[in-house]
Formats: sequence, structure tokens, C-alpha cells
Amino acid sequence: MQSNGTIRIAVQRSGRLSEGSLDLLKNMGLQFETYQNRLFTRCRNESLDILFLRDDDIPEYVQNGTADLGIVGSNLLDESGAKVERMLSLDFGFCTLAIAVPEQSNYKSIADLSGKKIATSYPQTLKRYLADNKVDAEVIVLKGCVEIAPALQVADAICDLVSTGSTLRTNRLKVLEVVSKSQATLICTPNRSGGKKELIDRLLLRANGVLEAGAFKYIMFNLPEKRLKDAKVLVPGCDSPTVIPLADPQMVAVHSVVEEERFWEVVEKIKGCGGSGILVSPIEKFIR
Ligand code: PRP
Ligand code: ZN
Repeated sequence: MQSNGTIRIAVQRSGRLSEGSLDLLKNMGLQFETYQNRLFTRCRNESLDILFLRDDDIPEYVQNGTADLGIVGSNLLDESGAKVERMLSLDFGFCTLAIAVPEQSNYKSIADLSGKKIATSYPQTLKRYLADNKVDAEVIVLKGCVEIAPALQVADAICDLVSTGSTLRTNRLKVLEVVSKSQATLICTPNRSGGKKELIDRLLLRANGVLEAGAFKYIMFNLPEKRLKDAKVLVPGCDSPTVIPLADPQMVAVHSVVEEERFWEVVEKIKGCGGSGILVSPIEKFIR
């Protein structure tokens, strides 16, 4: 398929990653319309088409260059073995690939599944896991609705994705072992042609900016000038924090960024240094 310099990005058509994928693209400044059952949409402000595909097909489409970029669970990349570049872990779509068994069953560990049947859409990953654990079980490959296999007596156990856990609960199944962990991942085709490279690189920079913004908060506070040295260690910022004199010559205002995960620890230490009037706001974009 020729695309005349237009970039194509493949996202899941309907499923766990659809909403997060579209949110990311919008936060990257792409303007487009979507509605249910659409197959593709064209961006208004960039030379870019969004393709809506079955997630299982995305690694292959990106590998062969039909799509230049894709958003897909890392579990599918492990399974397909597609030769694509993993550019960014996207911090959403967290789930595990797990072996689950009927709630009422007596299986205690994976070893108990020797000689049993396990249904899955992830046969390669499951076979590797069984081999690593020296368990000789039969792998039944199903394309979908894996969770009903035990009830239909097609299999004794399943190996499937668990996100909220509600699919397992509905089907009276429980997790026996976690095989692997997954999150949404931005992938890029290895066949990047010259004309598209510039836009792909720009999009990657933007995706990074969106992720970084989510990982940081903007923080402002007042501080006795004599404690500035301590505060600089707490909130070093990108290069160095911004320090602004206040009307009271013994006080300064400090502006910086702080990692979301260190946020409370840093705020407590700022208070400990005599900081006051601590203001925190979200960052929309953050390009380092
Ligand atoms: C996975 C899996 C379950 C569901 C589990 O499907 O096959 O159906 O998610 O999620 P839960 O724990 O929140 O109930 P996926 O999104 O990969 O869609 P697909 O199987 O149709 O490709
Ligand atoms: Zn799928």
C-alpha cells in the first residue's frame, strides 16, 4: 500500500487500549474526528491517517510498513515476535497475561497443570512459559472468547489478559500464575523512508512530551533565603530552579518541577525547610 508521504498510525479499533490511544494522539496536538465503527480518520492539521485495527494485527502492519507507527500492548509484541522498534512505554493499558483456572478447582500451582489443556490466544508466550517451568500441558489455540473454554470443557485452564479482572470474575475463574506484564507501547516500523522520518521524529518528541508532562508537576513556594541551598537539592528542576526575590528581603519564591512520584516526599521536606504557600499545578506539555 502506498501512502504518498502521509504517516499512518495504527490503534486498536475497540478494546482496552482504544480510549487511551486516542487521548494520547489528541494530547500530541493531532486534530481529528472519530466515531464508532470507523476504519480510519484523517488528521486536519498533519499529514497523518489513523487506522483502526484489531490489536492483534497491529504488530504485523507496522512490521511490513503498512502503518508507520502503532499503539499496542507489549504482550502482543512478545507474542508476535514482529520486527518493529519499541519507541516508548505509554503508561496506560496495564494488564497481566495470566493463567487462570475455575474458582472451584483445586489447582495450586502451574505444576498441577501437567497433562491438562490450557486455552489461549497467546500460544507462543504460553509455550515458552510452560517450557521454562518444565510443565507439559496441551496448548489449545483460540482466537477469542478464551474465558468460556473451561465452562465449555474445551480446556482445564486459560491463559489470557487480565486488566480489571472482571472477565475472570464473570466467568468464575481465578488467577493461578502471572506469566507476564504488559502496557501500551508506541512502536515504529523498521522501514522508515526518508520523507516520513521528519514527521515521525516530531511525533515521537511530542509523545515523549505528553508522557513527561504527566510524570511531573509544576511547584511554587516561598522560602527563607538562607534555606535556598537545601531547596535546590529538593527541586533541581531541568537545569536549576527559578528563584525570584520577594518584597521581604529574607524570603524568596522558588519555581520548579517535581516528579509526581516524589511529590509528597518533596512537599514534606520543603515544609521542613520552612517553605510556605506551596502551590502545585499540572503541566500540559514538558519538553526537556
Ligand atoms: C482482553 C482479554 C479479556 C479482557 C480482560 O481482551 O481477552 O477479554 O481484555 O479484561 P478485564 O480483566 O478488564 O475484564 P483485549 O482487550 O485484548 O481484546 P481482544 O481479546 O478482543 O483483542
Ligand atoms: Zn486482542
